Amino acid sequence: MKKKRKLGLVTVRLLSFCLLAAVVATAVAGCNYGKMRDDEAAQSYNDTFPQMPQRTLPAEGGIFAERQADLSKLENALPPNAEVIALGSERYRFYCGQCHGMRADGNGTVGQSFAPLPANLKSEAVQEQSDGELFYKIRFGFMRHPPLFSTASEEETWAVIRYLRSLVDYS
Ligand code: HEC
Repeated sequence: MKKKRKLGLVTVRLLSFCLLAAVVATAVAGCNYGKMRDDEAAQSYNDTFPQMPQRTLPAEGGIFAERQADLSKLENALPPNAEVIALGSERYRFYCGQCHGMRADGNGTVGQSFAPLPANLKSEAVQEQSDGELFYKIRFGFMRHPPLFSTASEEETWAVIRYLRSLVDYS
């Protein structure tokens, strides 16, 4: 009887030692001091340079390349169909009409305060220029003409040019 109780005490001591050991082991494993040094956040410029989301900073293409483009090689990106011309007509009224006039004759209300006056966009002087030249002038500005690259998208600008062409009868 006495022996039995003694054995029980040893077992309890053994169990509590195991429990303590388990607690200490868990605590030590939790304190992983190497982790911060190895963390990707602290290593970001050592290994692989983080990839920029596309179009954040246009290293190729984008507005800088467009500005340096050879005008003679710029062709209208949109076909001269009814849909494109309708889009161009609408966007012309949004972005150009106030200066160049709703009939594109240079007689817009706001435009009258400019010197020289906004061009008559149906005139020969404008119409004889290539689509690329007009695109470039509209987007990056020309003398008193404001740069509109951040106002009208590339697509809208090409559509407006198609619309301007449709106002003149070449035949
Ligand atoms: C804030 C007024 C204003 C707005 C808006 C404007 N223009 Fe002009 N634009 C002008 C003025 C002023 C000129 C004359 C520039 C000069 O000769 O100094 C001009 C000139 C031009 C020319 C003639 C360039 C040349 O070779 O003579 C074209 C083409 C033209 N604009 C197209 C457009 C189109 C298309 C839009 C709309 C997407 C537009 N402009 C919006 C004021 C404006």
